[in-house]
Amino acid sequence: MTAPVTTWHRLAGTAVLLDGFHALKHAVRFGAEVPVAVAADREAALALAGELAPDVRDRLAALLNEVPEDTYRSLVPRPHPTAVAALAVRPSRAANLQRLAERPRTAPVVLLDQPRNLGNAGAVIRLAAGFGATGVVTTGTLDPWHPTVVRGGAGLHFATAVERVTEDEIPQGPLFALDPEGDDIRAVKLPDDAVLAFGSERSGLSQEVRARADHLLSLPMRPQVSSYNLATSVGMTLYHWSLGQLPS
Ligand SMILES: C[S@@+](CC[C@H](N)C(=O)[O-])C[C@H]1O[C@@H](n2cnc3c(N)ncnc32)[C@H](O)[C@@H]1O
Repeated sequence: MTAPVTTWHRLAGTAVLLDGFHALKHAVRFGAEVPVAVAADREAALALAGELAPDVRDRLAALLNEVPEDTYRSLVPRPHPTAVAALAVRPSRAANLQRLAERPRTAPVVLLDQPRNLGNAGAVIRLAAGFGATGVVTTGTLDPWHPTVVRGGAGLHFATAVERVTEDEIPQGPLFALDPEGDDIRAVKLPDDAVLAFGSERSGLSQEVRARADHLLSLPMRPQVSSYNLATSVGMTLYHWSLGQLPS
């Protein structure tokens, strides 16, 4: 067994799988520690880096080990079209909680209140990274570092602070909970240190979060439409917050 494959097997149980070129690119860009990275065609992966991510090409060149196609396939649950995979060290929970607790915040925290769908959680993390949110916290049983969530997040878990929290660990700050019955969000300027809470796909906001909320806000929606998708709602709300960032 070659050294990268041995390292892979040693770390696979605890590390975060970066599935594909784009996940590796994002993770490296945002400072992830990557102890092992493999490609079935290293030259093709570096050509892709030269084309799409010249800022991290040299770092990828230093990280990527070529392994036979069969070996690559044996390391991942589902081969990715780019035939690139890597393992990253999960950021420490204590460091993430500290980052989430720091005040004053310059960008909101997204709170997913008992989400159910792994794909939605990944999409939300990608949105939070894109808008520069401080982090994404979840309550309930879903693990926001589940491999399916990481795949949906395209490696952007490393660009924001992602943690599952208990109710007591929900970051402090004015809590704006999103619900179709709330006041129209368009009349409200969301503060930078807001906690933006979204309910579960099945049952909406829990009683606990509803009771803690300082404001209940709705996204504009035509009558007879019951609700938007969770990740879509997060996207619209972060976009609304970002409009308040424009110089007046
Ligand atoms: C799929 S919806 C939940 C639908 C659920 N059946 C319910 O009873 O609320 C998931 C979450 O997205 C947010 N959401 C969806 N549509 C919204 C709207 N029009 N206004 C505000 N928030 C909305 C809410 O936070 C909601 O809890």
